[in-house]
Amino acid sequence: MRLGFYQFEPKFHDPEHNLARIETALGRARADLVVLPELCTTGYLLRDRAELERYAEEVPSGPTCRRLAAVCARRNLAVVAGLAERAGSRIFNSAVLFTPEGRVNTYRKSHLFLDEKDIFDPGDTGFPVFEVGSVKVGMLVCFDYIFPEPARSLALAGCQVVCHPANLVLDYAQWMTLTRSAENRVFWVLANRTGTETLGDRTLAFTGLSQIVEPRGRLLYRAGMDSEELPVIDIEPERALDKLATPRNHLLDDRRTDLYRL
Ligand code: ACM
Repeated sequence: MRLGFYQFEPKFHDPEHNLARIETALGRARADLVVLPELCTTGYLLRDRAELERYAEEVPSGPTCRRLAAVCARRNLAVVAGLAERAGSRIFNSAVLFTPEGRVNTYRKSHLFLDEKDIFDPGDTGFPVFEVGSVKVGMLVCFDYIFPEPARSLALAGCQVVCHPANLVLDYAQWMTLTRSAENRVFWVLANRTGTETLGDRTLAFTGLSQIVEPRGRLLYRAGMDSEELPVIDIEPERALDKLATPRNHLLDDRRTDLYRL
């Protein structure tokens, strides 16, 4: 399976510009699955709920969804994209999987970061696993990485490749996902963004360093802090099915759930 991510700096408040850039980048990608950053068409530091309302769209009928679905069909490609999803009166910070056959699957960010709590609704999907070809994939969005349970839930559901759209700002985040990958024996594609955004007296610096990690937590590829790039790495997804840390230690079956009370 050829796995990739597109790391770039979205232009704030300019979905049309960002979507055109994404379409151009995906149009050149020779990959089976490409992961895009969180909120990849709008930028991150949205002022308030009213501003978010302007950009949120329904899945799968919204304009970003329709254009990404068209690229996937044309290029025989699967894409995971972070976007603001409108569902009735609620708005989620979602990751959406588009497959080449036209399937659209959604994960809604469970753990909202900082002031996201003021404008988004917390996700309600749990941690579903979907298929790209015969490979089981799951999605997390950015801050979900800081808790062990989301990645573990995906692994227990059979996920082989974790797709992780992000707008990371904490400088230890990339390192933590190496552990999440190793403790669950899964491949991990972290698609982060670059650049800075300012809102009033707040400035966020996004840390780049997007990465593809193999099931023992080793880096297969890491991007630069500021670079725009779309690397593609060939992986063997079946390696994520082997959960043995030693011949007698199975990372999922050996858990002492009888002792994990609190
Ligand atoms: C984050 O969850 N965007 C840090």
